[in-house]
Amino acid sequence: ESRLKADCLCRKVECLEQVDSTNTRAKQLAELGEPEGTLVVAEEQTAGKGRRGRGWASEPGIGIWMSLILRPRLKPQQAASVTLVAAMAVAKGIRECCELETGIKWPNDVVIHGKKVCGILTETSSEPDYIHYAVPGIGINANTKSFPEELADRATSIYLETGRKTDRNALIAAVMNAFTDYYRKYLETGDLSLLLEEYDQMLVNKDQEVLVLYGMAEEADPEKMQKGIARGITSSGALLVDTDEGMKEIVSGEVSVRGV
Ligand code: BTN
Repeated sequence: ESRLKADCLCRKVECLEQVDSTNTRAKQLAELGEPEGTLVVAEEQTAGKGRRGRGWASEPGIGIWMSLILRPRLKPQQAASVTLVAAMAVAKGIRECCELETGIKWPNDVVIHGKKVCGILTETSSEPDYIHYAVPGIGINANTKSFPEELADRATSIYLETGRKTDRNALIAAVMNAFTDYYRKYLETGDLSLLLEEYDQMLVNKDQEVLVLYGMAEEADPEKMQKGIARGITSSGALLVDTDEGMKEIVSGEVSVRGV
C-alpha cells in the first residue's frame, strides 16, 4: 500500500527542505511535548548523525532521512529494541514497495545483497525507571546513483539494485505502515517475543560465522574479539552467538558484527 493506513501510528509529518539532523529536530519537538506519531522528514541534512559518533551523508533529494517520535510506556532497557523493530519495518517496506530481497544485519542495518541500504540511529530520553520518548532515525539510500570509492563495496541504494527511481513518499508510507504493526506487537509484551520468528527470517547473520568487536571498529581491542555462529536473537534483542565457550548473548551498543 503506498499510502498511510487509517490506523497508522504516524499521525503528522513535518517536511523540511533542510535541517541539521531529523533526529535533533524530532528530539526538540519531543521536548516541547509533541505526541507520539509525529514524523520529521527532510530533503537534506547538513549534520546527519550515524552510530558511534560518525556522520551520515544526506545529500538533498535522493534519500529518505526521517525520525519518528515515540512515547512507549517502557523501561529504558526495553526500549533498546526500538531499533530492531524499525529495522524490520524498513526491511519489509523496501521488500513490498520495491520488490527487493532485504535482510537485517544485526542490530541496525538493513542490507540488500550484503550491502547496507539503510542505517538506524535511535536516541532516547529516559529516567532510570521509564522513558520520556524514543526517536528512531532512519536513513534509507533510495535514489543514490553512486557512493564514494571507500563505501562502494559496503553500501548500496534501491536505485543501484533496481535501476529504477523509488517513489520516496510511497516507501515512507510502506515503512510507517509496517512499523505500526510491528511496534504494536512489541508493545503487547514489551519485548520482541511475538516478533522473534519473523526477525530471525530477516537476519542475514543467521547461522553465519560472525566476529564480534567491542568498541569502535577501527580501534577494537583484538583481545576482546569473539568468533562464533550467530543463531538468532533473544526477546530482549541480544544476538545469540554460539562460541567455543558456549552460547553468548551479545548486547548491542558498542559492538559491531562482521561476517567472516
Ligand atoms: C548508522 O548506520 O550509523 C545510523 C545512520 C542513521 C541515519 C539517520 S538519517 C535520519 C536520522 N537523522 C540523523 O541524523 N540520523 C538518522
